[in-house]
Amino acid sequence: MKLEVVEREFTSVNSDVLIVGVSKHPENTEGWNDFSALFGEHLDSWISEGDIVCDLKKITKIPSFGTIKRVLFVGLGNRKELQLDDVRHAFAAVGKELLQMKAENAAIWLGSFTSEMISEDDAAFVCGEGLILGSYKFRDYKTTSNEKDYELKTIQLVATGDSEEVHAAFEVGRVYGESVNEARTLVNMPGNILTATAMADYAKGLAEQYGFEIEVLGKPEMEELGMGAILAVNQGSVEEPRLIVLKYQALDEWKDVIGLVGKGITFDTGGYSLKTKTGIVGMKGDMGGAAAVLGAMRIIGELRPSKNVMAVIASTDNMISGDAFKPDDVITSLSGKTIEILNTDAEGRLVLADAVTYAKQLGAGYLVDIATLTGGVITALGYDKTGALTNNEEFFETFMEASIETGEFVWRMPLTERDKKRIRKSDVADMNNSPGGDGHMIFGGGFVGEFVENTPWIHLDIAGTSGASSAHDLGPKGATGVMVRTLATLVERMTEETE
Ligand code: BES
Ligand code: ZN
Ligand code: ZN
Repeated sequence: MKLEVVEREFTSVNSDVLIVGVSKHPENTEGWNDFSALFGEHLDSWISEGDIVCDLKKITKIPSFGTIKRVLFVGLGNRKELQLDDVRHAFAAVGKELLQMKAENAAIWLGSFTSEMISEDDAAFVCGEGLILGSYKFRDYKTTSNEKDYELKTIQLVATGDSEEVHAAFEVGRVYGESVNEARTLVNMPGNILTATAMADYAKGLAEQYGFEIEVLGKPEMEELGMGAILAVNQGSVEEPRLIVLKYQALDEWKDVIGLVGKGITFDTGGYSLKTKTGIVGMKGDMGGAAAVLGAMRIIGELRPSKNVMAVIASTDNMISGDAFKPDDVITSLSGKTIEILNTDAEGRLVLADAVTYAKQLGAGYLVDIATLTGGVITALGYDKTGALTNNEEFFETFMEASIETGEFVWRMPLTERDKKRIRKSDVADMNNSPGGDGHMIFGGGFVGEFVENTPWIHLDIAGTSGASSAHDLGPKGATGVMVRTLATLVERMTEETE
């Protein structure tokens, strides 16, 4: 996509569609009168009569003339109350519309998306992000489809501010949007195609593109190191497991490293604690945590913040065979801690245990683990809130600021000493992997916490938020790419703190 920033002069815009943010008169921004004059000053009456709709995210298309074929108005509601996230959502609605129209080029009047609180640069950022998120479409495997891939070829931003800054802000938004979309694609891919090996190959591609150091462990290396937890989950599979490490070293010293640890179960059958025939469908998405980490790494690779970051991804499928692990087994994790298996469907915490231990061994000073870990988080918080646990108030506060900035809702749950006792209760081992069904989001994350020990840590359970059962504001049905933007924003904020 080619981007051009042009100074405000509507008559110089040559485009299939001009995009204008609209709110009820007299709240419209500077330049409205000039713009309205192009339509013989009819716009205000079309707005007051409801022919152009001002409700947030509502789109009204009207034909135009001259060098602009159509004007696409997008409602911004009450401009005084307008939040940046509303503008992001409005642009995503525009992205969806452009996808439907198969528009090849568009001009955007950026000033019409500003307010006293929202600058042109802010608007340019969420414009890049929203358009890309909203126009996402998964390339499926239908052989009958003769649809060509849609691509918006050129965008003209009509802006009054410093055009280089506007340009840069849009590009950062675009990187965020594209990286979320890549994560979405990984999650949407089926388990027979996106195997652990294929995920490692994708990570290798990122490493090559962005100069990350990469280490990929296979089964023999895991056996050598004693990664008994991920190996147990992989035991029943014909697909080899992969533990993927990407290192982004921005500082001379490998210190204060943020470790992003992702659950990469490419398909979760539940193992011998088998899922039901309806519960199993969709379990190709059980690598949403890994995808979020890879998406965030792509943003980091593009934007290159001054902060050391490491990604650790534990990937395998969870299958059944004569070789598979089973309830009552006792396994030894990389940390040396022994685990009594009570439920083979609680496999995510097992692979994360080894991944977290390995991240610590490689020098992580902060840890965020992210996983589609439990159905419990869905029971507790539904499909639109990511559940969190933490052992460090300050780290969590920075994280929450990042999540508020991206508009990705996170809610913290408690982890008490009593919960920890239940995780550590076993007649035969140091701990068990499934203390009970009551409040089990906490047990899932708390189990990972046992391996984190004192390192500042945040656990994110995205079982509810990683996939959407129907189209939503920022994208279509399917993978959402949740937390890609928040993880990258967290790294940015941690960079600012140390500067
Ligand atoms: N991958 C699932 C969690 C999940 C459920 C993700 C629904 C997405 C949608 C996880 O491995 C799992 O099976 N968890 C069990 C844990 C239980 C056995 C303690 C669960 O939540 O039921
Ligand atoms: Zn499971
Ligand atoms: Zn799982």
